[in-house]
Amino acid sequence: MGRIVCCSQPPHLRSQLLSRQDMERQSLMTQELVPLARKLAVPYYQNALPAHDQFHASRVHDIARRLASEYEGAVERDVLFAAAWFHDIGRPLETAGEITDHVEWGAVTAGELLQEEEVASDRIAEIQDSIRSHGIRASSPEPSTPEAKLLFDADKLDALGAVGIVRMSCILGEQSGKAGDKIAVIDDSTISESITTNLPDISLLRDRARKRLELLCTEPGQRVGNARWEYIEEFLDQFRAEIDAKR
Ligand SMILES: [Fe+2]
Ligand SMILES: [Fe+2]
Repeated sequence: MGRIVCCSQPPHLRSQLLSRQDMERQSLMTQELVPLARKLAVPYYQNALPAHDQFHASRVHDIARRLASEYEGAVERDVLFAAAWFHDIGRPLETAGEITDHVEWGAVTAGELLQEEEVASDRIAEIQDSIRSHGIRASSPEPSTPEAKLLFDADKLDALGAVGIVRMSCILGEQSGKAGDKIAVIDDSTISESITTNLPDISLLRDRARKRLELLCTEPGQRVGNARWEYIEEFLDQFRAEIDAKR
């Protein structure tokens, strides 16, 4: 993707040619940005645990596409979709304890990777802005652009519905392993009479899903989130019935 400069033209024509070339290059870059982001990002997910692997990035990309198509307002789609591929590239390192903040690390690394490919600096800054605000930690900035809001919602939606239940169960398992002890039990204290632990039960998974639902910040995101929440309630009904040995 190196810059092509034609030197056989007189200087007064060269500047016109360059600007046309730059425009063509920009257009080409826009078309190529998403597959480029995917190619650059996927290797970083190689050692990721299931909840934050390349399939999570791929689902977030796909959900972002759907949300963008339903969003009322202009969306820089290539920025949004590229950011979706990059957003969790730092997760494996954070899980391994090599970095403390996968969000900031991911934004910086994505910027460096794209800079090496000569992607326009304004595009890189927009992608980094979206990556930086996808987290829900107190230190994460609020998403402020349409692209950042849609990435935020797409990421949270992957913690809701059937996929969300599986992912959040995986995350509880990961966190239990890290703590050296389990942090929740597979039970429901409102049903079970034999529970003799102070550890949280299925309510922990419910609360984590509910928190993400309430954080959704776009109208299409909330619409999909509400449908996925309905499924979580059905799942919890089934869960309670099984704990009660009724199904
Ligand atoms: Fe993340
Ligand atoms: Fe994510």
